Amino acid sequence: MAKASSKPNETILVTGGAGFIGSQTCKMLAQEGLVPVTLDNLTTGHREDVKWGPLVVGDVNDHACLARLMRQYQPTAVIHFAAVTAVGESVTDPGKYYRNNVSGSLSLLEAMRDFGIKDLVFSSSAAVYGNPMRSPIPEDHVVVPINPYGSTKLMMERIMSDFAAAHGLRFVALRYFNAAGSDPGGEIGERHDPETHLIPLVLDAALGRRANVTVFGNDYPTLDGTCIRDYIHVADLADAHLRALAYLREGGHEQAFNLGTGQGYSVKEVIAGVQRVTGRKVPHVVGERRAGDPPELVADPLRAKRLLDWTPKHSSLDTIINHAWAFRKKI
Ligand code: UFG
Repeated sequence: MAKASSKPNETILVTGGAGFIGSQTCKMLAQEGLVPVTLDNLTTGHREDVKWGPLVVGDVNDHACLARLMRQYQPTAVIHFAAVTAVGESVTDPGKYYRNNVSGSLSLLEAMRDFGIKDLVFSSSAAVYGNPMRSPIPEDHVVVPINPYGSTKLMMERIMSDFAAAHGLRFVALRYFNAAGSDPGGEIGERHDPETHLIPLVLDAALGRRANVTVFGNDYPTLDGTCIRDYIHVADLADAHLRALAYLREGGHEQAFNLGTGQGYSVKEVIAGVQRVTGRKVPHVVGERRAGDPPELVADPLRAKRLLDWTPKHSSLDTIINHAWAFRKKI
């Protein structure tokens, strides 16, 4: 991989650096000799997961806080994770999503413009595709989000293009599929409150911390009737951010990249995988479909492979489950 930096003590602003993917990326930035400066309001992030650089507790919507941070740390680039991410909540409380994910991101873009920072790696999502018409999904697939969360990510992709044209912003939008797994070194991992994601919930059922896990629908048009997702290990996601930064610095131009493996697993296959890896039974029941769930979301990751030289290394289902299990047992 090309180096993301060559200067000593170079700082990178990481918004949302106390979160699941943000903290893993901070760890990797530090391993590359960069200093990650986390800006996080700690509503969902964890203070104790900011271990690899300074933490500024604040909000991207706070212009004065952003200006102080820029002056004090003089970051040369920004990796922007900070966002609210619960798809269901975005439907019931859209204002929260537009305020945090659009208005907050806009405030960050304006601060970058004012302080002459050009390079931005942005967390987008497979949610921009809505109900895709084909699988695997290439980046040039039509984008029609079906919930406010996906809309906020698509809006930001468009706003960044406008800032690129008007102000010379250089950005990439990384469209994550299903982030999963845990730090291979065991230092940090996935903790949401409340937890809504499949793998941690299945692990909790295996641990007896919950009576069972509900499979949301078994009448989808898939092989076993349950939804198919493309699970991608958090360490592979973090690696892609460093590669994206290096790509921008080598003159790569703004575009979106899918981050997934290209291989999908059904909910039933995930449950079977957890039983296989942990040797425990996972009590589960079949329930109603969850509103807004597309039957299948699988990435075509060729563009990231070709332009970022990115190949997932930890994203076999068993490795994802193994790492997530090691962390889940500890917390
Ligand atoms: N599921 C269950 N039971 C549960 C929880 C989930 O059956 O208790 C199923 C869901 O229906 C889905 C799959 O497991 O088919 C994965 O669900 P998650 O909630 O773990 O993840 P999502 O696919 O809903 O969401 C993820 C990210 C979002 C992103 C979205 C892109 O968490 O941020 O992918 O579509 F927007």
